[in-house]
Amino acid sequence: MTSSPPEAKAVLERYPRVAVIGAGVIGSSWTALFLAHGLHVVVNDPRPDIEAVVRGDLAKIAPTLQALGLPSQGLEKKLRFEPDLARAVAAVDLVQENGPERPEWKQQLWASIEKSVPAHALLLSSSSARPATEQGRDMKDPSRLLVGHPFNPPHLIPLVEVVPGERTDARAVEDAVAFYAALGKVPRVLKKEIQGFVANRLQRAIMRESCYLVQQGVCTVDELDDIVTSSIGLRWAVNGPFSSFHMGGGPGGLAAFFAEGGLGRNMVAAWQNMPPVEMDEVLKQRIVSQTAASFGRVPMQQMERTRDNKQVALLQALRGFAQPGDDDPG
Ligand SMILES: NC(=O)c1ccc[n+]([C@@H]2O[C@H](COP(=O)([O-])OP(=O)(O)OC[C@H]3O[C@@H](n4cnc5c(N)ncnc54)[C@H](O)[C@@H]3O)[C@@H](O)[C@H]2O)c1
Repeated sequence: MTSSPPEAKAVLERYPRVAVIGAGVIGSSWTALFLAHGLHVVVNDPRPDIEAVVRGDLAKIAPTLQALGLPSQGLEKKLRFEPDLARAVAAVDLVQENGPERPEWKQQLWASIEKSVPAHALLLSSSSARPATEQGRDMKDPSRLLVGHPFNPPHLIPLVEVVPGERTDARAVEDAVAFYAALGKVPRVLKKEIQGFVANRLQRAIMRESCYLVQQGVCTVDELDDIVTSSIGLRWAVNGPFSSFHMGGGPGGLAAFFAEGGLGRNMVAAWQNMPPVEMDEVLKQRIVSQTAASFGRVPMQQMERTRDNKQVALLQALRGFAQPGDDDPG
């Protein structure tokens, strides 16, 4: 549940100083959101042009922050860059890691951070797939380490998957949930670690079938995207797969859906018949060239702006329909 503003303020006051490790696609977006909520952010990233890149990203993200009702100007006053890792984390209350998705890199990073970071700091990784137990393997005390996996872009998409490791303290899980909720996110705690977590495992399954359909020549990439955005994409912004098919089962709901003669039975039967998909050079080329022909004409920055505008419109529309007991979508 999203915190009300005074509650959120009280939570965020516990984390006034934040370190962002790695400021590429994800770190830069987190940086904008943290700054917009008044936190001091120190960025650690070895890219020689990192300052210009992050400042450029802040300018690009500003209209979205504004549309979300957040401050968007003068954010750089609380931003600083520190190329030395030990110095970057020496006096922070929270670390959000967004570096390369390589397990050994993350293991080494956390073992180094542990030597310099204050003991009370919350240690969060944006990793899309690597569990905290694995990431904290070389730490003496990983009790404050856990995954806080956002969806791109974190400044906009509400979900954060909160995934504790085997040695994560329950208090750190509570703290992470409170922190992300105070930022207006929708944190969801996973009950056990699994490679890829939940949302990306779902995306994998959809992407696999999407590639298969393009491989078989059933549709092109832009046709497939249109089919998704005008059907299941729209549906899933309101109801997930289970409540959707609960309604799909008619008055008998999901029980009827999976009953003898129900549509769900055919779906389950089809799971046994899913051919393997090989991403060979021919398929890769087909997808890349169709994508270039369909979407490559639009500059990436323009695509991102359109995406942000439409997502904000959707979030605001859904917020207007929030029912008691619903989560505020953002
Ligand atoms: N891109 C996505 O859609 C997405 C979504 C959710 C989570 N993630 C996760 O977020 C993390 C970052 O992904 P990304 O897409 O932003 O990658 P990216 O390549 O855009 O950014 C990674 C950044 O890390 C920096 N970096 C490299 N070595 C470093 C070091 N030693 N210290 C500090 N920074 C260093 C790079 O310079 C780069 O700016 C990954 O773990 C990824 O799984 C990505």
